[in-house]
Amino acid sequence: MDSDTSILSLRDVRYRWPGRASFALDIADFAIAPSETVLLLGESGSGKSTLLSLICGTITAQAGSVTVGGTDLASLSAGKRDRFRAEQIGLIFQQFNLLPYASVRDNILLPLRFAPQRRARVAAPQEEAHRLCTTLGLPEEAIAAQAGTLSVGQQQRVAAARALIGAPPLIIADEPTSALDAATQATFLELLFAQARANRSTLLMVSHDARLAAHFDRVVQMSDVTSPLQGAA
Ligand SMILES: Nc1ncnc2c1ncn2[C@@H]1O[C@H](COP(=O)(O)OP(=O)(O)OP(=O)(O)O)[C@@H](O)[C@H]1O
Ligand SMILES: [Mg+2]
Repeated sequence: MDSDTSILSLRDVRYRWPGRASFALDIADFAIAPSETVLLLGESGSGKSTLLSLICGTITAQAGSVTVGGTDLASLSAGKRDRFRAEQIGLIFQQFNLLPYASVRDNILLPLRFAPQRRARVAAPQEEAHRLCTTLGLPEEAIAAQAGTLSVGQQQRVAAARALIGAPPLIIADEPTSALDAATQATFLELLFAQARANRSTLLMVSHDARLAAHFDRVVQMSDVTSPLQGAA
């Protein structure tokens, strides 16, 4: 898959955390086609969250290229990279990262503030936040509640709604189901997939839970895309 036709492409990427000799991420080639759903499996500490940070441009590779929607992230200034991320990527964090004292509605609407193109795709933001809540199975009264007062499973749905609003081309999810029981997990994934498909968004999820595999178009092992550490120098 070449980087012109893929929504996401990493080539010869190398990343080390400053001062950490014992860990290096080394990815020769990893790409995802538009609208694909991909599960990236790897054990704890294998670098999944580090890889997602590279894709989001919150950290920068020391070598190689990370291309999202045809744009090489290294070609953008830090400020432009922040705006690009807000426009292109809907993010579901491992710990959700909701604003606990803000309402569910305001949490869901937050990305639109930093992403005018995403905002322009939503004719009526308040109504869309409400629709996403209902579609993702949140109770009617949740929209006005403080996000921090919801259960973990409900907060996860809010995090998903925040990632989905305005149909960003790429949805990235960092182990968002690990806190849930199997039945709740399956329901959540079905709802997330249905919305991502309706938006024609690409979905990349990382996890260490191989039981999720059946839900995805493609399953990739971290060990298949990363090279082992070459001499901890
Ligand atoms: N902010 C950071 N500063 C320094 N080292 C870090 C930082 N974040 C991660 N690391 C190191 O990078 C390596 C990979 O960590 P990472 O969080 O990417 O793994 P992971 O696959 O997401 O693990 P988990 O499944 O537990 O979430 C680890 O050795 C970790 O200590
Ligand atoms: Mg992680």
